[in-house]
Amino acid sequence: MRLVFVGPPGAGKGTQAKFVCEKRHIPQISTGDMLRAAKAAGKLPADLVAKMAAGALVPDDTVIGLIAERTTNADCAGGFLLDGFPRTGPQAVALDAMLRGRSQKLDRVIAIEVARELLVERAVLRRTDKRTGQIYHLKYSPPPAGAELEHRADDREDVVQKRLDTYEAMTAELLPYYAEHGILRRVEGVGTIDEVSARVLRALDGG
Ligand code: AP5
Repeated sequence: MRLVFVGPPGAGKGTQAKFVCEKRHIPQISTGDMLRAAKAAGKLPADLVAKMAAGALVPDDTVIGLIAERTTNADCAGGFLLDGFPRTGPQAVALDAMLRGRSQKLDRVIAIEVARELLVERAVLRRTDKRTGQIYHLKYSPPPAGAELEHRADDREDVVQKRLDTYEAMTAELLPYYAEHGILRRVEGVGTIDEVSARVLRALDGG
């Protein structure tokens, strides 16, 4: 199964992606995680580090290249879940062309929908365990004692607001694109994490 998760910052894409990937035995491919790993390794050019820190998107060519390469790995033979890619019209077109060239196609695009006013709190109180990559929330999904917590550089309130603006300007246009292709399923992202997981599974299994 080849899946895409779309949604604004803090909607729960990463949280639900981890759950689905474990259940379906497919890799989670997050362009955000790949870019942060490149930054941590000192391999992300300074202008891209600055774009991410400001809540802007990095250039299409950069992420298209990352995805084109990563999806040829052996672990993608049975499918994959793209978390945070595509994010612009040109990225979606490039993904379609790439898959067509491999005689493949996307099966589902899941849009996780959460009202803007709830998203800032979700992002600002998010913490990630450095060792395991597990995502926590200080209020809704508290970390266990001993977790090595990291606070993302772009999870400051002012940057989150900018990321939300970027989403509305650049990424929301993907929803009509995928609706036209008949593969978009919208999932209400408000509720407990387990409730949202159940809705996501229904959206994947339903027609
Ligand atoms: P990226 O890392 O993809 O960030 P994002 O899209 O802004 O999404 P987030 O990771 O913030 O949120 P999420 O939806 O995964 O939520 P999560 O599950 O963590 O991108 C970062 C940057 O990289 C971009 O700004 C851009 O610069 C660059 N980039 C990446 N991809 C790119 C691309 N394709 N093109 C160009 N640039 C790109 O949940 C959030 C919090 O809420 C957590 O604390 C979680 O515990 C909590 N939570 C989850 N579900 C619930 C629930 N149901 N109830 C209560 N709390 C919940």
